[in-house]
Amino acid sequence: MPASDRPSERRGAARTAVVWESLRPVLDDGQSPRDVLDIGGGTGGFAVRVAELGHRVSVVDPSPDALAALDRRAREQGVAVAGQQGDVSDLLEVTGPASADVVLCHGVLEVVEDPAAALATIREVLRPGGSLSLLVAQRHAAVIARAMAGHFQQALALLDSTGGVLSGRVGRRFTHDEVTGLLAGAGFELASVHGVRVFADLVPGSLLDLEPGATGALIDLEHAVSTRPEYLPLAAQLHVLAR
Ligand SMILES: C[S@@+](CC[C@H](N)C(=O)[O-])C[C@H]1O[C@@H](n2cnc3c(N)ncnc32)[C@H](O)[C@@H]1O
Repeated sequence: MPASDRPSERRGAARTAVVWESLRPVLDDGQSPRDVLDIGGGTGGFAVRVAELGHRVSVVDPSPDALAALDRRAREQGVAVAGQQGDVSDLLEVTGPASADVVLCHGVLEVVEDPAAALATIREVLRPGGSLSLLVAQRHAAVIARAMAGHFQQALALLDSTGGVLSGRVGRRFTHDEVTGLLAGAGFELASVHGVRVFADLVPGSLLDLEPGATGALIDLEHAVSTRPEYLPLAAQLHVLAR
């Protein structure tokens, strides 16, 4: 079975399509190859695909297991991705200042000790005119998901939680205003904000598996709502491009 036909790949495509589309102007700007740093890049779900586009990609992540999986994934796809063990707090020592044209920070701000300090460090790692691709979990959608699953106390606890890393699996969640405020505080200028996974997590997997064309139609719908402000609070994640 081709990878793109596997159920997990179909759902993954629906979950990430909006991110890839909004990254296109940054990764496909005619100035290829660029130096792309994926901080907290984990097992390389994004990094390896960016390397396949022809860019020079490095991943800094504290997890040796994730870096080993990244290495395997890169070798399987026949691309080079430089994995280095490190933490956003020591990123400048690992990479040096002004060393990246593009920084991906996807699913990481939720778990770092100090999100404002992390963004300030990333800004120093970026070259002048460089771009940050930031993907964060969005709080309002998480409240709805918890309530729909019957976890009412968790939903209530999440409602106004702006504080540190929550006990539990996922960590912090952000609202649109919180994330844009953090970016402004670190000196970034917003380029775009997209809502990601407005519907993709709500649709039963069996529907994508059984109904021909459903994944494509869902992706079209995700694209259509991703820039509509009224749908942003329902998005499981926010994707922000900033300079
Ligand atoms: C939810 S995963 C996201 C992985 C990848 N960026 C993606 O989008 O698929 C979070 C990643 O952040 C890494 N991480 C955790 N704490 C970190 C820190 N302080 N600095 C950098 N990365 C960190 C974890 O090891 C993990 O690989």
